[in-house]
Amino acid sequence: MKKALVLMMTLLMAVMMVAGCGGGEKKKAEAPKVLRVGTEPTFAPFEFQKEGSKEFDGFDMDLIRAIGKQLNMKVEILNMGFDALIPALNAGNIDVAAAGMSITPDRQKAVDMSDPYYVSGLVVVVNKDNEAVKNVNDLGNKGIAVQIGTTGAERAAKVPGAKVKNFNTNAEVFLELKNKGVDAVIIDKPVAEYFLATGGGKDYAKIVGDTMEAESYGLSLKKNSPLTKDINKALLDLKKNGEYDKLYSKWFGAVKK
Ligand code: ARG
Repeated sequence: MKKALVLMMTLLMAVMMVAGCGGGEKKKAEAPKVLRVGTEPTFAPFEFQKEGSKEFDGFDMDLIRAIGKQLNMKVEILNMGFDALIPALNAGNIDVAAAGMSITPDRQKAVDMSDPYYVSGLVVVVNKDNEAVKNVNDLGNKGIAVQIGTTGAERAAKVPGAKVKNFNTNAEVFLELKNKGVDAVIIDKPVAEYFLATGGGKDYAKIVGDTMEAESYGLSLKKNSPLTKDINKALLDLKKNGEYDKLYSKWFGAVKK
């Protein structure tokens, strides 16, 4: 009788131990960490919201979701002003900014920037009927619309005598051009091209001149973030396993690297 009791107790303990271990493993798999991503979604085809939708769409959004999957993290996307992204990183309100952000020396001082993931550049956009402006050198003393805090805004500020109007969103930037409140817009080339092809720009706007300033986009993180190396590793893995190419051709057609 005593023996049977001891045997039962031993069995019970063994069962409890096994169950305990299983529980521990389960916990690990259950709670993926959250990756808080900030973006400014008036920058198609990199980040945008389809009319009437709160969903974030675009190349950057697909890319950061793929990176999240790679890191076993749950991606949460937050909508904010472009000029609010770096302050939000520094304040610890977001972990990453995925916003077609060009890698510049100034930004590299303020935040960590990932390895480049897209090569871009700036262009001048004018109204279709504008015959006077052929390139950026014709913009002296003219009105230029830009998005606040962007490299386009920096470029516009260097144009002698230009009257630069800063807007929070690119929707407003393009509307100002349409309403002829300015002579030109300075903006990233792939965004201008997408706007002319599909965004309603082809009715009234055109690109003039060559691409100015080659720029590469990077994801940004708080200075010395422990996540920076994980993000770079995930980016590299996605390039190696073909996922990056898949996303690239989804949004830009043929794959170029
Ligand atoms: N590439 C430009 C910059 O880094 C413009 C980026 C704007 N991005 C956006 N999501 N609105 O300044």
